[in-house]
Amino acid sequence: MTDLAAPDTPLAIRGVIKRYGKLTALNGIDLTLEAGRFTALLGPNGAGKSTLFQLLSGLFVPDAGEIRVCGCALNEAPSRALAQLGIVFQQPTLDLDLTVEANLRFHARLHGMGRRTTTRIDAELDRVGLQAQRNTPCRALSGGNRRRVELARALLHEPSLLLMDEPTVGLDPASRELLVSYVHELCSDRDLAVLWATHLVDEAERAHHVVVLDQGEILTEGRPDSLVASSNAASLEGAFLNLTATTKEQTKA
Ligand SMILES: Nc1ncnc2c1ncn2[C@@H]1O[C@H](COP(=O)(O)OP(=O)(O)O)[C@@H](O)[C@H]1O
Ligand SMILES: [Mg+2]
Repeated sequence: MTDLAAPDTPLAIRGVIKRYGKLTALNGIDLTLEAGRFTALLGPNGAGKSTLFQLLSGLFVPDAGEIRVCGCALNEAPSRALAQLGIVFQQPTLDLDLTVEANLRFHARLHGMGRRTTTRIDAELDRVGLQAQRNTPCRALSGGNRRRVELARALLHEPSLLLMDEPTVGLDPASRELLVSYVHELCSDRDLAVLWATHLVDEAERAHHVVVLDQGEILTEGRPDSLVASSNAASLEGAFLNLTATTKEQTKA
């Protein structure tokens, strides 16, 4: 059994429930992430992916259950927990009138980064290849580059856990491919735990671990090849469609 309070467990979620009035958006979520592992949270629209991200970032509080980031309980030690977490939300959150650097500096101040700010901004801009755009207002950047700035920002304070909510929506195929490969690289280079929410099966196929979420519940999880092997389908797409079709049938019954 995973020790929820172990500081080397990047994320441990147990029994998390979140309701919006009568609607139960998350119904008893248990999930553990491992360092250096790219986990895809695969679910159709309305599955509860963004709700989970909102709970993980402390924007909403669960109705029940426990969330720990690197051993710190989010409700007891929010600053310590959030210091270990970097997030790219589904909706873009850059200030488009500010330059790339100003957006990053604002984030650094929020995290109390002090004197290491400039070195860290340099390092992340080099990594995402946006050093030349440092003084460009974000409005002038392409969609792909804006996402890269958001990623650089999420990593600025060197978190152990990176959360990305449908980050490739609206990107052209080449920018999408670049972003997915880049995050895979980060995951292994920095031993980051990545949780990547998507409704796109091809993005989940490349993950080390896939968690299938539908109607607020985790239907199954495992390596992509094990999920295919344990289903009656020939591909992850088929396995995903079978699984989510079954929940729809049960809901109708
Ligand atoms: N702020 C909200 N108020 C009420 N219902 C919400 C709110 N946010 C999401 N929902 C509902 O919760 C369910 C899960 O939504 P969401 O977490 O956005 O799913 P996903 O990100 O997987 O598409 C959906 O039925 C959605 O309509
Ligand atoms: Mg969403």
